[in-house]
Amino acid sequence: MPGTASRSKRSWWIIGVGAALIALAVVLLTTYLVIRMGLFNVAADTPHSESVFWFLKSVRDQSIAVRAKDIVVPSDLADTQRISRGAGQYVEMCAECHLGPGMKRTEVSRGLYPRATELRRGTGYTPAEDFWVVKHGITATGMSAWGVTHNDESLWDTVAFLRKLPELTPDQYQALVKSAPMTHGETQEMQMPKQ
Ligand code: HEC
Repeated sequence: MPGTASRSKRSWWIIGVGAALIALAVVLLTTYLVIRMGLFNVAADTPHSESVFWFLKSVRDQSIAVRAKDIVVPSDLADTQRISRGAGQYVEMCAECHLGPGMKRTEVSRGLYPRATELRRGTGYTPAEDFWVVKHGITATGMSAWGVTHNDESLWDTVAFLRKLPELTPDQYQALVKSAPMTHGETQEMQMPKQ
């Protein structure tokens, strides 16, 4: 009977919608309770669980990849002037957290969570992704959006240096930093590699 078939289809539909609404209510209630009861620990001295870490890392990497996709990378990243200017910026703005060859960990870098990668081991990103990260920063970490205060050209200088950094010995790093133009005043002494 056609009437019975359409009636049973309708009741399955109602059951499906009902189940979805109940599931949604459970998810909302759980989220509300997790927030209200302060179950998520935001302390920087307590590492995330593996699943939270995996979730945040996946969100971050995918977010960066999608947004960096159309960035056009300058062809002169290997230019020595660029690298030299980038070295000056790195020591002034980045080394305190990301350290450099031959540098001991700083007070800031020891307490940061998520930890700032030691960029002398490479970033794990493409130049376009590096640029995006340096320009826009990463929310809810210590990573600043340097594009708020620096133009794209100077940020590409920093990226040019980041690509060079993994090849540098402590001596080469120190020599490059010493000869680099400093633009933020003489903070150089403070963050020079300690040997
Ligand atoms: C106050 C500390 C701090 C300073 C200063 C800082 N960063 Fe970061 N940076 C971080 C942290 C923390 C992360 C890791 C964020 C994460 O894990 O999601 C990060 C991530 C990055 C990444 C992504 C690569 C990776 O492996 O995590 C790059 C590239 C980077 N920073 C470059 C720079 C550059 C270039 C500068 C200077 C212009 C700089 N950072 C200054 C804290 C800092």
